[in-house]
Amino acid sequence: MNKIKNDLFLRALKQEVVPRPPVWMMRQAGRYLPEFRALRDKYDFFTRCQTPELAAEITVQPIRRYGMDAAILFSDILVIPQALGIEVQMKKDFGPYLPHTIRSQKEVDAIQIPDVYESLGYVMDAIKLTKEMLNDEIPLIGFAGSPWTILCYCVEGRGSKSFDKAKEFCFTQPEAAHEMLQKITDLTILYLIEKVKSGVNAVQVFDSWGGMLSPSDYQVFSWQYINQIVEALKDYAPVIAFGKGCWFALETMAQSNVSALGVDWTITPELARKFTHHKVTLQGNFDPSRLLSPPAEIKRLVHQMIDQFGKDKYIVNLGHGILPNIPLENAQAFIDAVKEYA
Ligand code: CP3
Repeated sequence: MNKIKNDLFLRALKQEVVPRPPVWMMRQAGRYLPEFRALRDKYDFFTRCQTPELAAEITVQPIRRYGMDAAILFSDILVIPQALGIEVQMKKDFGPYLPHTIRSQKEVDAIQIPDVYESLGYVMDAIKLTKEMLNDEIPLIGFAGSPWTILCYCVEGRGSKSFDKAKEFCFTQPEAAHEMLQKITDLTILYLIEKVKSGVNAVQVFDSWGGMLSPSDYQVFSWQYINQIVEALKDYAPVIAFGKGCWFALETMAQSNVSALGVDWTITPELARKFTHHKVTLQGNFDPSRLLSPPAEIKRLVHQMIDQFGKDKYIVNLGHGILPNIPLENAQAFIDAVKEYA
């Protein structure tokens, strides 16, 4: 693999001393960008994911505009249930909809792990094309949902405030739930290894709904599966685990072979460092709604956040995905604040 010209992000993952921390934003390729909305009006969601030229173009859109220190491949975590043969629709103003939910042992038994290239080869093609377009300027991040977060959608069939049907499935049919979680884990491992072989420089696991579980249930239904992914990937590429609302698990997570842990804005940088014993690189944790503050205020808060985390072993990011209603100049202020940090 060629040397990446701006390797701040990879150096932060290796815990090297850097002149300033790297910056990227979760969901940086998204609806706040007019150039993204233009493509969104022309092509439906999964067409954008499945057409390498479109996925690659959408991936580099935010980079062209703002010059982040890493790109994240445009795709979705729900390509995994699709590859498992579970239909996924993306409904306008509603979000994901899975008409045939998985709620019984029989339905779990029927699920088969597909060949990664046959079912998800389009992602590998998108990676190769994106790597060409990025021209080794910055690293490319690949991602997957955590097995628990994917199970949430498969069982619930849609987004939810509480994911109580997913939890009910785990608590009343634990054998079926664990079999399902293991199938998702097995495919996710094959998928992420193939992504690394296709060119991504690091992978992130999004556990968006980990915080729905109690600390003890989190270990049983989420972390043990994420940790299998970490163990399987660690010799291929750095792994970032992001558990939204999972501050209570940071101490356990920091004892694993992750290269970095994502944190949301419900924990202070000081506490996140304390729970992780300063052992791992941390990524986060600007409140996405804080990007609605005036640009000067955003810059002040970003500098304060870097001071609190410390410039090393740190990747500047939001605490969750960027919101669609963020003004362009406010996103600019966020990125610029990091580049101006000295
Ligand atoms: O970060 C990036 O820029 C890369 C692209 C990316 C998307 N989805 C594109 C997308 C990433 C990393 C994801 C991950 C994802 N998808 C997660 C985990 C991260 C998180 O936000 O918690 C989850 C839970 C999903 C499932 C999903 N996909 C939902 C709930 C929705 C609808 C809600 C929404 O934000 O609109 C999607 C659709 C989706 N995935 C969009 C984008 C840009 C918006 C819809 C569209 O473009 O038509």
